[in-house]
Amino acid sequence: MTTFKMRLISGLMLASIGVMAGSIATAGEIKQDMKEMKKNLRGAIKSDSVEELAPYIESLKYATWHASNLNFDGSAQEKNTYREGLIKVHKQLEEVDQAIKNGDLDGAKRVLSQVRDTQETYHDKLNVE
Ligand code: HEM
Repeated sequence: MTTFKMRLISGLMLASIGVMAGSIATAGEIKQDMKEMKKNLRGAIKSDSVEELAPYIESLKYATWHASNLNFDGSAQEKNTYREGLIKVHKQLEEVDQAIKNGDLDGAKRVLSQVRDTQETYHDKLNVE
């Protein structure tokens, strides 16, 4: 075998390991963001004041935004569904922010129950959990 061919083959092997490692890391990252979302949604729902609620919503928004930038391992259609759902959650969290600004704890909690619905709808659509 020529040196060129050997270099080519080892280059391709390295590239495929890179691709594999990349997709594994991403799958784990979505899970990590989801765990973060779960923890913060729970904290938010349990909060007794808008002051207590606000930092949970900040963390929840960050994890949602982070997850929406990750590559969902599925068809083009599923990738769209994945992004669409997380963008929807992010918009709902902005509504929660508005309720926080208005000092409206009950209003904030009402929107949070819609976030729960979105979670359920999209988990169903993507066949997770
Ligand atoms: C605030 C709303 C949401 C919460 C609290 C939440 C929470 C979770 C939890 C706890 C898991 C299981 C993680 C584990 O295996 O330990 C999960 C998995 C998952 N969720 Fe969500 N989720 C939410 C919204 C969404 C939305 C809107 C989407 C997509 C549009 C989504 C997509 C996924 C996917 C793809 C997985 C599987 C991740 C994996 O195992 O690699 N989630 N979610």
